[in-house]
Amino acid sequence: MAGSLDNKQQAWSGRFNEPVSELAQRFTASVGFDQRLALFDIEGSLAHAAMLEKVGLLTKTDLAAIEKGMAQIREEILAGQFEWSIALEDVHLNIEKRLTDLVGDAGKRLHTARSRNDQVATDIRLWLRHTIDEIRCQLQGLRIALINQAEAHADTVMPGFTHLQVAQPISFGHHMLAYEAMFSRDEERLIDARRRVNRLPLGAAALAGTSYPIDREAVAKRLGFEGVCENSLDAVSDRDFAIEFTAACALIMTHVSRLSEELILWMTSRYGFVQLPDRFCTGSSIMPQKKNPDVPELARGKTGRVNGHLVALLTLMKGQPLAYNKDNQEDKEPLFDTADTVLDTLKAFIELVAGMQPQPEAMRRAALEGYATATDLADYLVKKGLPFRDAHEAVAHAVRHAVEQGCGLEQLDLATMQGFSQLIEADVFEVLGLEGSLASRNHLGGTAPAQVRIQVAKRRASIGS
Ligand code: ARG
Repeated sequence: MAGSLDNKQQAWSGRFNEPVSELAQRFTASVGFDQRLALFDIEGSLAHAAMLEKVGLLTKTDLAAIEKGMAQIREEILAGQFEWSIALEDVHLNIEKRLTDLVGDAGKRLHTARSRNDQVATDIRLWLRHTIDEIRCQLQGLRIALINQAEAHADTVMPGFTHLQVAQPISFGHHMLAYEAMFSRDEERLIDARRRVNRLPLGAAALAGTSYPIDREAVAKRLGFEGVCENSLDAVSDRDFAIEFTAACALIMTHVSRLSEELILWMTSRYGFVQLPDRFCTGSSIMPQKKNPDVPELARGKTGRVNGHLVALLTLMKGQPLAYNKDNQEDKEPLFDTADTVLDTLKAFIELVAGMQPQPEAMRRAALEGYATATDLADYLVKKGLPFRDAHEAVAHAVRHAVEQGCGLEQLDLATMQGFSQLIEADVFEVLGLEGSLASRNHLGGTAPAQVRIQVAKRRASIGS
């Protein structure tokens, strides 16, 4: 990046007696990171210029010159040939200066009725709207991968846990759909936040609006905004929409992190519930037997990073008086990194989930070891007339006995079982089986394979695939 201290280059240098120090220039410049907004900046400028022409503030010739110059700048940026200069501070002044070099006075007229304050707010909103759409697309990909696994494993029994202790048998497909539900809400949150992102700040100018007869609605329409920010001070100063987006992303990462944690546990030899594709694992340089789940571990780690960005943005905002303050320049790096992190993580997880190989035998063994059908036995007694609390007590004794014998409940003989309750009959062995337990939870939201299949169809339809 070119760096020159020639203060004359600066758009605002007229008022100053000495050049900005090199340190201050480096400290205040944002072009190193906000050049990422360049194409949105151009899009916003073209809409602004078209409006200026329409209301008589630019001639047709000027507008044509601006459009031609911007087209060239766009090509230069896309080809990686644009020369960014730190002396020109940010993406906006770099592009404006190049435009002026290319088309002369028309370029200098572009900034009529506009400030960098409403310009930058517009650019971020355009970028964020685009980014939200990209993230939604990946979220849908992940939801589909989870639904596919759920469909393939509606009948696969695994132990469900509470307190990380075996609790009750569940369908592996049901477990997959629990994550699908989380990611589907994450998508809803993004859709909701998008409505508030999708408002036009341009026209607020520096903070108070402008004395020119601008047409904000026309600009909004051209840029695809759903409306304009109706208070000029608010338009240039608040970044609540960015905070909302980052909060939604922190939740996405939190959900990915929980899934990661489970995958990491599940692929240990103690669980052995799943195998992850080799392409997502790494070995150890010292222990030849190791296959480490690096991708889920990193995703779990990166969650902290996105949570950090959320806190950074909240803190950035909390002490700012109205209206625009340079503090807001600090919104970009957390936002960009949040988007990059979430997008990369989701892309990796789509493949990871699709390539994951569940191990039904290992899950079944674990479900059989943990007295997972004890509740079913209690429910059996309740259905025979025993109050639930008494049933609970009777089954607790049965479990204790089985633990002492080192066997499963289903391995106790009928006479022994009847020692815990006279209500127990030969049909008890049906409810002690894993499949029977699962199938009996056959209601909306339950884990019965039949319900899982209903949900698979419903969830798939909700994505439209
Ligand atoms: N680079 C600045 C930002 O990101 C653009 C707005 C600067 N406005 C100003 N009055 N200095 O916020």
